[in-house]
Amino acid sequence: MLRTGLAQFPKLRLRRLRRSEALRRMVRETELSPSHFIYPLFVTHGRGVKAPIPTMPGQYHFSVDRLADEMVDVSRLGIPAVMLFGLPATKDEAGSEAYAPDGIVQRAIQAIKDAVPELVVITDVCLCEYTSHGHCGVIVDGQVDNDRSLDLLSRTALSHVRAGADMVAPSDMMDGRVAAIRATLDGEGHSGTPIMAYAAKYASAFYGPFRVAAESSPQFGDRRGYQMDPANAREALREIEQDIAEGADIVMVKPALAYLDIISRARATFPHPLAAYNVSGEYSLVKAAAANGWIDEKAVTLEVLTAIRRAGADIILTYHAKEAAAWLSP
Ligand code: PBG
Repeated sequence: MLRTGLAQFPKLRLRRLRRSEALRRMVRETELSPSHFIYPLFVTHGRGVKAPIPTMPGQYHFSVDRLADEMVDVSRLGIPAVMLFGLPATKDEAGSEAYAPDGIVQRAIQAIKDAVPELVVITDVCLCEYTSHGHCGVIVDGQVDNDRSLDLLSRTALSHVRAGADMVAPSDMMDGRVAAIRATLDGEGHSGTPIMAYAAKYASAFYGPFRVAAESSPQFGDRRGYQMDPANAREALREIEQDIAEGADIVMVKPALAYLDIISRARATFPHPLAAYNVSGEYSLVKAAAANGWIDEKAVTLEVLTAIRRAGADIILTYHAKEAAAWLSP
C-alpha cells in the first residue's frame, strides 16, 4: 500500500489529524459500543444467591431468582445479549443435567425471557460442567468419544431452545457437532434458531479462572485431544470453514487477546459474523493488576476491547461488558 512518490515529510504530517479530540473522533477507524457485547454469566441452584467468584473479581454465581434484576441492568446498559453457563446440582458420567428439561440453565432461560423478553439469551452448549469427569464429551476407554458425544450435545441444545433460548453456542470442539445440532433443531421445528459455533477454540491456560468458577476442570488428563494447539493458525481457518459448512451462523475465535492474529485472519478470509471470546484469564489479569494499582483499569479495558474489535471481531464476549458499557455511555 505504501508507495513512493506520495507526499512525504515535511509535506506529510500525520500528527495534523491528532490535534484535537474532535479530529481524532472523525478519523477513528474502530467503533466500540455496548451493542457488540455479549455478557457471560453463571447460574446456580438455591435462592437469593449472588456469590462472588474469587478467581474472577466482579463476577458472581446467581440463583435463578436473582437473575431478573441483573438482566434489567444489563439491558439498560445497552448490552443486547447474555451467554449462560450452569452449575448443576449433581454431575454424572453422561452429564445428564445438561439436557434435563428442568436443569439449571433451562430454568434460567425461562426466568430471563419472562423478565426481559428483548434480551438475546444465548446458551453455552457443552458437557464439561455436568460430567463427573469434567470432559466436554462422553468417555469411552479413557478417551472422549467424538461421535457418541454428538447426540448428548444435540439434546442439550434442543432442551435449551425448548426452554426459550434465542441462540445456542456449542463449545465442546467435537467434530460434526454443528451439523448434528442443526439437524436436531431443524427436525424439531427450530430452523429459525441460530448457532454461534466456538469454531477456533484453543486448549488455553487462560480458561483457568473460569474452570474454578464453573467447577469444570477435567478430572484426568487435559483438553488437548479436542481443543486446538495454540501453535496453530492455519488449522483455525479449517475449523472455521468446517463449522460454516455445517451451518454455523456466527463463528468464534477463543481466547481473544493472545489470538488477535487468528481473529484478523478469520476476518480477512470469511464474510461471516465473527465473535471473539475475551476469556476469564484475560479478564482476571486486568482485574488483578488494577487491584494492585499497577494499571489504569478503565483505560486498559477499553484498549483491550478496542483491539479485539480492530482485529476484526464483530462481537465480543466479555466479563467486562457491564463496566465497559457504563464507561462508554455518553
Ligand atoms: C466450556 C467452556 C469453557 C469456557 C467457555 N466454555 C472452558 C473450557 O473449555 O475449559 C471458557 C471461558 C472462559 O475462560 O472465560 N467448554
